[in-house]
Formats: sequence, C-alpha cells, structure tokens
Amino acid sequence: MPYYTKLGLLPRKRHVQFRRPDGCLYSEEVFGTEGFVGPTTTMYHIHPPTQVFGWKALYSTKAEYVEQDIMRMRHVMTGGHRLPPKGDCITGRVVLFGNADCEMAVGNPAEQMNYHYKNGQGDECIFIHYGSGVCHTMLGTLKFGPRDYLVIPKGVIYKLTWDKRANGPDGKPADGGPPIDTTPFGRYLLIETTNGSHIGPPPRYVSKAQGQFLEHAPYCERDLRLPEFPMTWDERGDFPVRIKARDLVHEYVYHYHPLDIIGWDGCYYPFIFNADDFSPITGKLHMPPPIHQTFEAHNFVICTFAPRMLDYHPQSIKVPYNHSNLDSDEVLYYVDGNFGSRKGIEIGSLTAHPQGIPHGPHPGTIEASLAATHTQELAVMCDTFRPLFPTKAALDLDDPKYPASWQGEHFPGLSTGKMHLNGVTVPPIHAAAFPKETHPVEVIKSDPTGQVLPAPVNGSGNSAASVKTVTANVWAP
Ligand SMILES: [Fe+2]
Repeated sequence: MPYYTKLGLLPRKRHVQFRRPDGCLYSEEVFGTEGFVGPTTTMYHIHPPTQVFGWKALYSTKAEYVEQDIMRMRHVMTGGHRLPPKGDCITGRVVLFGNADCEMAVGNPAEQMNYHYKNGQGDECIFIHYGSGVCHTMLGTLKFGPRDYLVIPKGVIYKLTWDKRANGPDGKPADGGPPIDTTPFGRYLLIETTNGSHIGPPPRYVSKAQGQFLEHAPYCERDLRLPEFPMTWDERGDFPVRIKARDLVHEYVYHYHPLDIIGWDGCYYPFIFNADDFSPITGKLHMPPPIHQTFEAHNFVICTFAPRMLDYHPQSIKVPYNHSNLDSDEVLYYVDGNFGSRKGIEIGSLTAHPQGIPHGPHPGTIEASLAATHTQELAVMCDTFRPLFPTKAALDLDDPKYPASWQGEHFPGLSTGKMHLNGVTVPPIHAAAFPKETHPVEVIKSDPTGQVLPAPVNGSGNSAASVKTVTANVWAP
C-alpha cells in the first residue's frame, strides 16, 4: 500500500531504545521489501521474532498444471455442491489456474484454523464471496465480510476465524447465502502472487511522488479498511506457525504468542477494500476493461466488474464488443447478478479465455441488452500477461460445452425479417427512416443448423439452398 500509517506504541525515533514496562527492550523488526528500497514497516515485538523452534515440513503446495499445451475456452463451475466443504482456510484451498506469476484458488472451509499462518512466498488477495469473520494479523485485526478483498502481504502472520453461519426463522441462511450444508463458514476466491511481487493499487491511480490516490481513481484512502486493535497478545506457550515458502508448508513453534507486536508504522500492511466501495467509471460508449482495474502485481491485474450505469449514447451497445486481448489470458469469477453477455454462467463460475481466441457476447445477448440502463452484476477478473494453466481440479469442474457457446444465431431479428433497435422492434422497411447515421451493410444469414457459413466468393461459394444474401440498413456500431 502506498501510504504511511501507524498503530500502537512507537518510540520517538527509529532504532533507539524502546523499553517494556519491565525495563527490557522491545525487539525492533524492519519488514523491508524489494531489498529495503520498497514499502517498509517497522515493528516492535515484546519478544525477539527470531526465536523459532521445531522445524517440520508438513505438505507440498506445488500446483500441478495439466493441458499446458492446449488453448481453449474453459468454464469451471464451483457453485453449490460442486465444491464441497474441505479443510480449513489454508489446507482447503483448491488451486484452479496459475502460472509463474500467480495462482487462483477457491475455498469452502469445513473447519476453523487452529494455528497461525504466514505466506512467505507471495501476497494473498482473498475475495470473500460468502461469510464473515475476523482476521487477526501481527499488525492488527481486520473484520471481514461479503465482497471484501482482504489483501495480506507476504510475510504477515495471520489467523482467520470465520463466523459460524446460521439459518434464520424461515429456515434459510440468515445472511442470504447458499445453504449451510454446502457452505458452513463461507467461500472465497484467492489470488496469490507466485513471482515475489506485491499486490497494490495501479500506479496510475496514485500521485507519483507521494502515492496519494488521485481524483480519477475509482476508490481512495477512505475506502480502505486498515488493521485495528486488538493487536497484541502477551502469552507464553507453544504456538505453531505454519509458513509457506518454496511451495512447501513448514511448521515452526513459537514459545510465545506470535502476535506480540506493541506498535508499528510504515507503508507495508494488510488491508481490506470492499467491492461495493468501487465507484465504477462509466461512459457514453463502452469503456474498456482497464476502467475496472482494482489492483495489480507484476504480470497480472485484478479488476472489479461492479454494479453500474450502462453506456448512455442512444445507440450504444450495452454488452462488451468482441475482443482479442492479445497479450493476456483472462479469468472471470462470477459473484452476483445475471451476467448480461454470457449464457449458462452460474454464481461461482469461472471462465477462462486464453489469448489467441476472440471472445464476446453470446448469441442473442446484444439485442436483449439494448434497452438496459444498469447492470447489477458483480464479477472479479484476473488478467495475466503470460498463459494460465489449469489444474486437474479445474478440469474436474469444467463445462465441456462452453467452447461451443458462441455458436448459433447471434441476430435472430434478421432471421425473422425484423431488427431490434434499442429494444424497439423495427421492420427492415422502416429502417430507412433512420438515414442520417445508417449505411447499407451486406449481411449473410446463417443456415438452419446455426452454423455460420462463409460468404460466397464470386457468387459461387455456397449452395443457394442454405445461404441467402440480404441487404439491410443497420445502425453503424
Ligand atoms: Fe474479455
């Protein structure tokens, strides 16, 4: 995070004597990034942070990617019973996609953590889909709830405790989420760096010299929730701390409570940003994906597709144009709402669109959305600049029909002899009433099977039985 903050007790100067009530010195620790030239935090422990015991290797977290040479659209469905409760918030993580820059996992914990954890190899961005609770970290406590991005930088020790979900008087979950038997505590999407970089706001959102959020940014400092008290536990005993590093979870034992910091200051700390605090940038005509950007790290970005007003030009196309993001693979996680440009997508679905194949609205969705003025959809997107690979877990949840979902009739109005302009059915003969912004366009009809056929070449390409060329006036896009 770019800006400075502090919590708890601090000495007047850095690196000077700072004593506990019993006269002993607090143990200063400098949390330095990027070789001590990046964001740094200085902390004061009750006990020396170096006193760790009982090294033990527990389990590997190395993701095994499959089909690394295959490029195809994917639709991974994790909603409902498809992702049963498993493990705790750490051991239950199911990695679905990843590469050398990041990993994407989903989780539906079956039990609480009974240890503390530190990711020693990457930053974690945990998007809370359902559930609430508290995350006690060495730098303070963060209360989390639905639609929160909980960002925990590399090296921060934490323990995440969920509230137990319960049914209301009507027998349905009181929080409006999925049935308790499928989701006892909550669900989350995790995006984790695997290249050592850090997750933060895009540099273009903040001022160059001071790192203050600028006026055009879709969120600012006031939207961020920072660690609060309680922060300090002064207890002796045996406290296991699991540390992930080198794709292996190790267990160390601390002989005092690992959250023993009395005060800290700096620019490196965990924080929360809620997706509902994202102020979408809207436009007269369709705005490109970067306006949804929320965070970035080296070689990938995280975006929030939040409820928003749709484009307000009277002839605007409300769903995204067909597009090729030539340098990115794109994964969308669908959180809430009815995604206008995609059919068959469920809450909890992930779609993966690899670079190399254009994608865009599903058949019929352009016309169906023309009259819409707002969208209530919420989705989280992760775009990576290097190819993403699926895991076997992703293939087990994959919808094999998805790559064919763009086939079929995209413009049924043409087949019926009518066109739909901004929600108004207009027979072609009346289209001439809109001469100012129209021009003739040659349109090829599809055959009855829904297969789009190539245009005739010199009048001899396709059999006349199944292909008919018509000329119609349509609005210029
Ligand atoms: Fe896209």
